[in-house]
Amino acid sequence: MRRPFIAGNWKMNMTAESGAALIKELKPLVKGAKCDVALCVPAILIPTMVRAAKGSRIKIGAQNMHWAKNGAYTGEISAEMLKEYGVKYVIIGHSERRQYFGETDQTVNQRTLAALANDLTPIVCVGETLEERESSKTNAVLDKQLTDGLAGVEDLTKLVIAYEPVWAIGTGKTATDEQAQETIAYIRKKLSKLFGHKAANRVKIQYGGSMNAANCKGLMAQKDIDGGLIGGASLKTDFATIVNFDK
Ligand code: PGA
Repeated sequence: MRRPFIAGNWKMNMTAESGAALIKELKPLVKGAKCDVALCVPAILIPTMVRAAKGSRIKIGAQNMHWAKNGAYTGEISAEMLKEYGVKYVIIGHSERRQYFGETDQTVNQRTLAALANDLTPIVCVGETLEERESSKTNAVLDKQLTDGLAGVEDLTKLVIAYEPVWAIGTGKTATDEQAQETIAYIRKKLSKLFGHKAANRVKIQYGGSMNAANCKGLMAQKDIDGGLIGGASLKTDFATIVNFDK
């Protein structure tokens, strides 16, 4: 069985003070959760949030990492730096990175392979834009993102996929339960072709895009949806309601 996994993505929000205060509030609320829980925070907040989350179910993740071991890459963060603080998860290829920072399937691939080589769990984001969905290109876009982004991955089950339709991110416009299930089932089918049925059946696939306390139950009830990548709603205690989706 695939254990559910709810991850928050704080994006460029929070400070050391407000972030630690939120984690303090969340800790007792997520105590009895049956799923894996992570918060992917801005890199500079990682040490403070790791300390704040200590002794709880909340694991702290990063929002990006570079593929090189070290070197002249101003502004970047390495796997070694993340691991030093006990980071386990790292978001790779979020659509905002693709849209605003020139991330491509090739750089997604380099980052993913480097994360895996360093025993970090990459949360690899894929998803189509509104224009691509409306011109029936969703499957073709996902095919390319998965084929190129995951090239050379040896053990698919060591990573997590987040399906995030770009049109649903931060817009309040969630995919319907059926749309999300249908597309995630398609992703699993594609992964089965690329990596074999057994691995595809075991890999966790999250939904992301305006998932919140009100719509999480319906989405999580879908057969192929194993969790959520939560942006806006992870900045408040609503995140705990999503973590407790089964209660
Ligand atoms: P949202 O963001 O929940 O605010 O739509 C999700 C994401 O970008 O990971």
